[in-house]
Formats: sequence, C-alpha cells, structure tokens
Amino acid sequence: MAKGKGKKIIGAVTENETGTDIREKLDLPQVYLRYQYAIDLMMAKLRLMNADLSGACGRQVIRNMSSRIKTADSMIKKLIKKGRNVDFETAITTLNDIAGVRVVCYFSDDIYRVADAVRSQKDFRLIKEKDYVKNPKKTGYQSVHLIVGVPFTYIDSTQEIRVELQIRSFAMDYWAELDNQMCYKKNVSEIENIGRETKKYSDVIAEVDSKMLELRKRICP
Ligand code: GTP
Ligand code: MG
Repeated sequence: MAKGKGKKIIGAVTENETGTDIREKLDLPQVYLRYQYAIDLMMAKLRLMNADLSGACGRQVIRNMSSRIKTADSMIKKLIKKGRNVDFETAITTLNDIAGVRVVCYFSDDIYRVADAVRSQKDFRLIKEKDYVKNPKKTGYQSVHLIVGVPFTYIDSTQEIRVELQIRSFAMDYWAELDNQMCYKKNVSEIENIGRETKKYSDVIAEVDSKMLELRKRICP
C-alpha cells in the first residue's frame, strides 16, 4: 500500500484503515477462541474456588460471575484515548482487558478471599493489581482489579493470555451498574452534578456493606 494511503488521522493518532485490522483479526476464530479459552479457564477455576470457599465458610461466597471479550470498537476507542497506534498488534500487547471476568461476592471481605485464591493458583501469574475498595476512584467506584496471565498451550507452544478480573461486592456491583448507565465515560452537561450525587451514594453503600459485614460476623465467618 502506498505510504499514507488508507490511513486516517484522528487527533495525533494514525488509525490504520479505521481499525479494520483489529476488526478483521478479532473476528478470526484462531484469535477470539484463545481469549474465550482464557475466560473459560478462569471461570472454571473460580467455580472450584467458590466451592472450596463456600464449603469452608458454610455459606455462598460468590453470588454470580460474568464475562466478555472486548469489542473491536471499544479497543479502537481505548487505543485512540491512550494515544497509541490503532492496530491489532498494539491492541493485544497494550490492552489488559480484552478478556474480562467479573465476580460478584455477597460481602466485602469475600472479595479478598477470592483475590487470595486467585493469587495462589500456581499456573496463574499476577501481573497487576488495583484495589479500588481500599482506595476508591474519585467517582466512588469500588472493586478489586487483578490482571492475571493465564497460560494457553496449543500443540507445542505456550503463550500467556491476560484476563482482567474485577471482584466486587453485591452492593458495589449495584452502584457500578447504575453509574455505568448514568455517568461512566459520559459527557453530558448534568454529569458533574450527577457525579457528585453518585459519589455520595457510593459512600452510603460502603457504609451499608460494612454494617452488613459486622452483622454477618456475629453469625458466621
Ligand atoms: P478503562 O479504559 O475503562 O478500561 O480503564 P483502565 O484501563 O484505566 O482501568 P481501570 O482499572 O480504571 O478501569 C477498568 C474498568 O473498571 C472499566 O472498564 C470499568 O468496567 C470499571 N470502572 C472503572 N472506573 C469506573 C467508574 O468510575 N464507574 C464504573 N461504573 N465503572 C468503572
Ligand atoms: Mg476496561
């Protein structure tokens, strides 16, 4: 291709064929099946961890889990925002959340039970950790995020696939879901006021979470 042809300038960023490369390659079964494999393996292990933890605590620890593979559009937006080249190679090397798994626990201390169990898996590698429960984001968002490297062996070679694991309580999930609909990554005029209010309710939710935890501790571990 002639130099510059098929390339578009978006801000300071060159978008390769408006992300065609990402769209085409992400659609290949050889690509998305690897991410799906990493998600499936992570979820299978989490089910086992839940069985062990729930057995040990005498109550359910994980309430529900969900997963997603990031869409090509979302990858393109994020690369542009980060000022990176918009191509498949850059996407798979720089984005940590192409494969995402969310775990919702009943109580806030369960978050650390699950995080510890993930950290202790010999075949997983903890790449990065963000504790937005101990240090909530300015928005009020709370969750523990682990970026975990999961091994994928096929024929005779092994590669590491990164999975972003978000672990939060039932109450934190309620807040994040509503915030996601109303505020997160939104750019509307009322957003500052609404953001201030939702931050306030995030504090209320943290307070309720901690009161419920106190009550539970009077009954069971
Ligand atoms: P993203 O570009 O959003 O992926 O952020 P990041 O790569 O800088 O990572 P970060 O750990 O801050 O956030 C990752 C994910 O956490 C997001 O994709 C959301 O799912 C969730 N998240 C982070 N901040 C907020 C927030 O303020 N509100 C809500 N609802 N979700 C959030
Ligand atoms: Mg993300």
